[in-house]
Amino acid sequence: MARPPAPEFDFDRPPADPVPAALRWFEDAKGLGLPNPNAMTLSTIDPDGHPSARIVLLRGFDERGAVFFTNRESRKGLGLEAHPRAALLFHWDPLDRQIRIEGRVSHTSSDESDAYFAQRPRESQINAWASSQSRPVADRAALEAMQQSMIDRFGDGPVPRPPHWGGYRVSLDRLEFWFGNPYRLHDRVVYTAHHGGGFAVQRLCP
Ligand SMILES: Cc1cc2nc3c(=O)[nH]c(=O)nc-3n(C[C@H](O)[C@H](O)[C@H](O)COP(=O)(O)O)c2cc1C
Repeated sequence: MARPPAPEFDFDRPPADPVPAALRWFEDAKGLGLPNPNAMTLSTIDPDGHPSARIVLLRGFDERGAVFFTNRESRKGLGLEAHPRAALLFHWDPLDRQIRIEGRVSHTSSDESDAYFAQRPRESQINAWASSQSRPVADRAALEAMQQSMIDRFGDGPVPRPPHWGGYRVSLDRLEFWFGNPYRLHDRVVYTAHHGGGFAVQRLCP
């Protein structure tokens, strides 16, 4: 198989600001034609200290951090309330690239969560009310009964954002770019945020 083209990222002279470079990699991933190029593994720490991981979708990214939306009473939500830190991982195999992000986690503002919820399909809005994410459910019929009860409840009216549903933002405390090379001599650059702003930048051995 042909090697993927090298990214427009100079691992020997990396830019001072990783944000435009990461945005460019996200755009490159969109060009792959995958169903979910913005899918990322979100790792959290459960209240009892155990690690857990799952896929969520990246819905926003800028210098403030990486944003995803979920049920704040889910397993990940309860973990994040107890330990507001997370690791995010993107891997695009056809590009032979990986991005890792680690940081502190905060709630997005109510306005930001409302705005995102408002532009979701109505069915997804209804199901955000219907599903007690991560809780046991007897069977498919029980799930569909909960959905129907919410369809009946909201009728033809607007579906407001559930109080337990919203966004989280992971700050860019540590951000790594990785590009695969033959025989494991991969390229890695890591950005570590300074307290006063800006980043320290280092190349790492693969
Ligand atoms: C491609 C893909 C995208 C997903 N996106 C989200 C998402 O943006 N938010 C979310 O809460 N769950 C999303 N999920 C479901 C999660 O992986 C997970 O099953 C769910 O959030 C419950 O996780 P938890 O029990 O660890 O809280 C997605 C799953 C897949 C496979």
